[in-house]
Amino acid sequence: MLTNQEFERIVRYMKRTAGIDLSEKRVLIQGRLDNYLHKNNYRSFDEFMDLVERNRTGKEAEYLMNALTTNHTYFWREYEQFLYLKQQVFPQLKEKNVKDWRIWCAASSSGEEPYTLAMLCMDYLGLEHNQYDTKILATDIDTNVLERAIRGVYTKYSVQQLPENYIRRYFKPLNEQEYMVKDELKKEVIFRQFNLMEPLPFRKPLHVVFIRNVMIYFDEQTKRELLARIYEKMEPGGYLFTGSTESLNQCHGKFRYIQPSIYRK
Ligand SMILES: C[S@@+](CC[C@H](N)C(=O)[O-])C[C@H]1O[C@@H](n2cnc3c(N)ncnc32)[C@H](O)[C@@H]1O
Repeated sequence: MLTNQEFERIVRYMKRTAGIDLSEKRVLIQGRLDNYLHKNNYRSFDEFMDLVERNRTGKEAEYLMNALTTNHTYFWREYEQFLYLKQQVFPQLKEKNVKDWRIWCAASSSGEEPYTLAMLCMDYLGLEHNQYDTKILATDIDTNVLERAIRGVYTKYSVQQLPENYIRRYFKPLNEQEYMVKDELKKEVIFRQFNLMEPLPFRKPLHVVFIRNVMIYFDEQTKRELLARIYEKMEPGGYLFTGSTESLNQCHGKFRYIQPSIYRK
């Protein structure tokens, strides 16, 4: 039984550490933790939270974070943005003779989004690709999804939206149900755990930031502060891509609106 106090304690913890607002998600919290607590003989949510709060880098804190994030994603999601990137942004980088394309995928979940970005870079540059460094930095707070991303095995349903030639070129079929990302694509993406509430670790300014379908879990203030910090780390003229339901409205700060879910410094 999750008491009101325990519920509020978990909500406060998630907000403080990851910016995630779960104040309306009582059923989700209970549903995702119940089994684990039961299996591990915790007598209450408080007993579990005592351990979490005692050691924020410990196993239970990691479990809690992984359990309470929502990781839904798929290849080629909201593909209009990928087309914009390929048709508008890549040609500009190339024209400016930028050889080191600094692209950050800020909430990469199980890897479908950053692998898509890597495919686009390789496809766009073709034989010239080896003259460029276009490695994608892909980060997420959740260590389970990062492990899946590094493994790079996906069901046929998750790749089915991709253009057919991308499937053929960048995946090898493992069996009737699964595909594996080829090594040539894997080495184009660097996966790291990173919490967006921490100071951003970039020394060189970013050309492109994908931060899609994660700010929906943050409140307005958290979102505004995060966007201001991202802005500071971007190259003038750099592009920011958000999820299609995450228009920045008033809180886009200094970013210039280009078209829905695409902004520019
Ligand atoms: C719904 S997925 C979005 C995946 C992908 N960007 C897409 O649009 O398909 C949201 C991801 O944000 C991550 N996330 C949530 N809070 C985070 C935080 N504070 N720092 C980093 N990642 C976070 C979750 O772990 C989850 O994998």
